Amino acid sequence: MSPSVITVDTKEDVSQDLIISLSPSGVSLLGRILVPGDKSISHRALMLGALAQGETKIQGLLLGEDPRSTASCFQAMGAEISPLNTELVTVKGIGLGNLQEPFDILNAGNSGTTLRLMLGILASHPNRFFTVTGDDSLRSRPMSRVVKPLQQMGAEIWGRKGNSLAPLAVAGQALKPIHYHSPIASAQVKSCVLLAGLMTEGKTTVTEPALSRDHSERMLRAFGANLSVDPDTKSVTVIAGNALHGQSVIVPGDISSAAFWLVAGAIVPGSELVIENVGVNPTRTGVLEALQMMGADIQQENHREVAGEPVADLRVRCVGKLKACTIAGDIIPRLIDEIPILAVAAVFAEGTTVIKDAEELRVKESDRITVMAQQLTKMGAKVTELPDGMEITGGTPLTGADVDSYTDHRIAMSLAIASLNATGKTTIHRAEAASISYPNFVTTLQQICR
Ligand code: S3P
Repeated sequence: MSPSVITVDTKEDVSQDLIISLSPSGVSLLGRILVPGDKSISHRALMLGALAQGETKIQGLLLGEDPRSTASCFQAMGAEISPLNTELVTVKGIGLGNLQEPFDILNAGNSGTTLRLMLGILASHPNRFFTVTGDDSLRSRPMSRVVKPLQQMGAEIWGRKGNSLAPLAVAGQALKPIHYHSPIASAQVKSCVLLAGLMTEGKTTVTEPALSRDHSERMLRAFGANLSVDPDTKSVTVIAGNALHGQSVIVPGDISSAAFWLVAGAIVPGSELVIENVGVNPTRTGVLEALQMMGADIQQENHREVAGEPVADLRVRCVGKLKACTIAGDIIPRLIDEIPILAVAAVFAEGTTVIKDAEELRVKESDRITVMAQQLTKMGAKVTELPDGMEITGGTPLTGADVDSYTDHRIAMSLAIASLNATGKTTIHRAEAASISYPNFVTTLQQICR
């Protein structure tokens, strides 16, 4: 029987095709693996390090394209950041309020977190002018969700389509504090306003409709900000006045990256994987709950706390067919980035899985509802788009096909996992997008396929 083959074909325009050709006997996934550092925590460590007094030491930083964008923006404003590597990155901060006016346009690349969090910081730096932009995808994504609350604080921001799209120009101001009731559960919106609040005399509060990831709150406190959380009202308050002080940050593995292996391990027959050192912050573990609802066998081992974040090793075993479930409501912000790969799990589950209340997916790096529905359909899956989600009827065998990532990292990796249970050959076009959050994805895939 010929072995299964996983290859990468780099095109003249540097885009890459990931080609997965399965032998008739298919593959099993076996091994102990590490996933790269958490993307959300990596951005925040670089940003707070730049705003702090003294040195911040970061271990386990994600070396993907997105944190590189954050690092280069803050270097352009005076922070000294050592060459990026996972062992140790040092950031020599310049102190709150001391960012220099950059000589050129700040480029956030593909990274919504870089652009949205940074806007809060820039808007609250008086007497400096900034221009910010991003790649094609980021320039199409809505910025009004952060521009509006910042304008309520008195910020001066201009951009295309009524100041809602990058490129944006920002004239930094002394802002006034607000209590912002965010219409969406978004950690980017919450963090943007809190970061602006660091430099805004008085008390800045954000209330959200459901709890979003709380990495900013944890890290701001550790760096010395005067910050309080009221879980009952889902509100966070920052009171300006405290300096930030450089810290040692240890970045755990990204549960959003681990999610690809959790689903792969649960759906590919004969698989057993241990993913070590994964962040299991409760505001991020919706994916574990969803997969457990579907009957996946996932165990948390060696649960511990590392530098203010809960961490565990995750063991997943394929124990038979998954079953359909409904994913909706307050769990959505706790698994928003994992919905593309959960859609893949649903394709292999018995029954009809319904994903609702996830309209945010339409404004991620791609329209993840349309793109996942179209690409999985090409492989033979039964997926119906809903305005705010998908309905997926599992159980139809998938056949290898030509599919496309639409330059979205999570789509590229989700389709690669789907192909592990499809017969024949799947080609994923523009698969290089994976390097936004997971530069070694293909190498790890090759290592664990047996
Ligand atoms: C992120 C928040 C989420 C998430 C994104 C990272 C963050 O976005 O989808 O990948 O680091 O704050 P929203 O805040 O828009 O939901």
